[in-house]
Amino acid sequence: MSKIYKIALIPGDGTGPEVIREGVKIISTVAKKNDFKVDFVNYDIGGTRYLKTGEILPEIIVEELKKFDGIYLGAIGHPDVKPGILEKGILLKLRFELDQYINLRPVKLYPNVETPIKDKKTEDIDMIIVRENTEGLYAGAGGFLRKDTSHEVAIQESINTRFGVERCVRYAFELTKKRAKNNKLTLCGKTNVLTYASSLWQRAFNDVSKEYTQIKCDYANVDAVCMWLIKNPEWFDVIVTDNLFGDIITDLAAMIQGGMGVAAGGNINPKGVSMFEPMGGSAPKYTGMNVINPIATINAGAMMLENIGELKSAKDIDNAVVKALESGKIKSMSAGKMGLSTTEVGDLIASYL
Ligand code: IPM
Ligand code: MN
Repeated sequence: MSKIYKIALIPGDGTGPEVIREGVKIISTVAKKNDFKVDFVNYDIGGTRYLKTGEILPEIIVEELKKFDGIYLGAIGHPDVKPGILEKGILLKLRFELDQYINLRPVKLYPNVETPIKDKKTEDIDMIIVRENTEGLYAGAGGFLRKDTSHEVAIQESINTRFGVERCVRYAFELTKKRAKNNKLTLCGKTNVLTYASSLWQRAFNDVSKEYTQIKCDYANVDAVCMWLIKNPEWFDVIVTDNLFGDIITDLAAMIQGGMGVAAGGNINPKGVSMFEPMGGSAPKYTGMNVINPIATINAGAMMLENIGELKSAKDIDNAVVKALESGKIKSMSAGKMGLSTTEVGDLIASYL
């Protein structure tokens, strides 16, 4: 009997539903080919629901989500909702409550994808960034003093626990070993200024490194990482970093791989329910136009299949994406400039499965 997986879908806002449709198409195609089944359950969560009902993310839904094999997310974000409400109320709440303590973001240059660093080849840009996903400046510690007066003080603290940092660093070492590319792990911090937080990271990194003698360890300050991601991306294999630095360098890295249209991410709880999403937002101005690039979402779908154990299907999808791009039929990674519609890009990739 073939295996059945239960996947929760959160298509969300803006162009989210359009890209998730293509992702579901690809996963269903690969499932048929490789003989497993996927039951998708749709959840109406996002800005549209919030504006209609005032509900952000009911606790009961969080409890339900804990029972799935994976969560496949399109995009959360609505132009009519004040910044912070949906981000904190949905995205960060899910990451924290499901303890998805790793944010995993692969960066690779596919064939025929234009990168601003034009002379780099596909083999020069192939790395993966491990971002701590439940602590740091995102933990929400801090507050106001004398709010709305001319003496206002705002404090936002970065929380770094030895437990949280160590499990993230250990995940990164394991991943570097499993990936077996250059066996190189770079810790990205800011030891020259953040003498407490980055020090804890460095000590945890050094201690865990003793268990992985085959891995080459490297350290770089976050500003230098930004510079080298552009200048010498081939230096990087796996990078591990805190929540905010990870947020920033993965946007930069997304650009060198050709933009948000190809950049996928996973919010991983290695022992629980993980959530996979395209890194870009809900692109409200393209909503309903069928012009958004679904490749990031399709890649996120491949990451989800890899995570639940369907390694061959994940590889099949990656190969199909490579072939679709090699065909030269997709003219650009940008919304509206692909020369094909969202649906046609999905169909093209499906045709190579
Ligand atoms: C990301 C996003 C989120 C983050 C926002 C939307 C809260 O930028 O997934 O990188 O900062 O983590
Ligand atoms: Mn971000």
